[in-house]
Amino acid sequence: MPTHDQLIATSGLPRHEARALLEHASGRRREWLIGHGDEEAGEALAARFATLALRRRQGEPLAYLVGWREFHGRRFELEPGVLIPRADTEVAVRWVCATAPEGGSVLDLGTGSAAIAVTVALERPDLSVLATDLSPVAARVAARNAGLLGAARVEVRTGNWFAPLRPDERFDLIISNPPYLAADDPHLGTGDLRFEPRTALTDEADGLRALHVLATGAAAHLRCAGWLGLEHGWTQGAAVRALLAAAGFVAIRTLHDDEHRERLSVGRLPSQTAAERQE
Ligand SMILES: C[S@@+](CC[C@H](N)C(=O)[O-])C[C@H]1O[C@@H](n2cnc3c(N)ncnc32)[C@H](O)[C@@H]1O
Repeated sequence: MPTHDQLIATSGLPRHEARALLEHASGRRREWLIGHGDEEAGEALAARFATLALRRRQGEPLAYLVGWREFHGRRFELEPGVLIPRADTEVAVRWVCATAPEGGSVLDLGTGSAAIAVTVALERPDLSVLATDLSPVAARVAARNAGLLGAARVEVRTGNWFAPLRPDERFDLIISNPPYLAADDPHLGTGDLRFEPRTALTDEADGLRALHVLATGAAAHLRCAGWLGLEHGWTQGAAVRALLAAAGFVAIRTLHDDEHRERLSVGRLPSQTAAERQE
């Protein structure tokens, strides 16, 4: 019977991945497995580990196999059907935390695992945060993460973009990381994306359809001088800035991710509309 260390060494996976799968299969903490590396694993554990390692070698995302992914230093539970949060999205979190006014309200549209909504709620306890998603699976996982991570005050609703909101409901800031890949983007057939929900990745059009819906619909749910931030692909910055300008936003700019790629375009509603200024 192989030892814990031998299971890891012969898995055909990078060590950190094999170790994460063994932690998951055994229910043991990393420190325990290191301390007991030369002990035999036992038949049942070896079989569970072999199945997980095979699935990983066949390409299934590690995050789905172990059921979580770390984002901004916290574990977000995941299941197939919910997008795996990416480090690129930290840009959105930093911008929301730096921009939302004291005691303000934030809306996260297409919240997925609630990576943005829960992180913002925990980093800025003064804010009220509402999160929505079209997918009932995502909404359920988002609510679970809010509870598990101590952000139970994050409210989660299910529905199509602005549909779950009351007509008069307004926020100081709206953030969204919508599906922005074009339907024929070759990345959809590669890596983790093959296993992630297609509705989280592509708008089934040119990649700008959801961004357009959000840019044009946001003003009706923003307070005066409220902010909108839209995460997008690194080649879409100019197009999203144009969408924001056409929707009447000002102070438009694009923030870069850690790889220096255009990642988040933001704009603010004017303090007064042109009509109000003329009155
Ligand atoms: C790129 S994922 C982002 C998830 C999460 N905000 C994050 O950054 O990890 C896009 C999310 O938008 C949701 N979504 C797609 N179409 C939607 C729609 N019409 N209305 C509301 N949410 C939608 C998907 O279910 C998915 O959770």
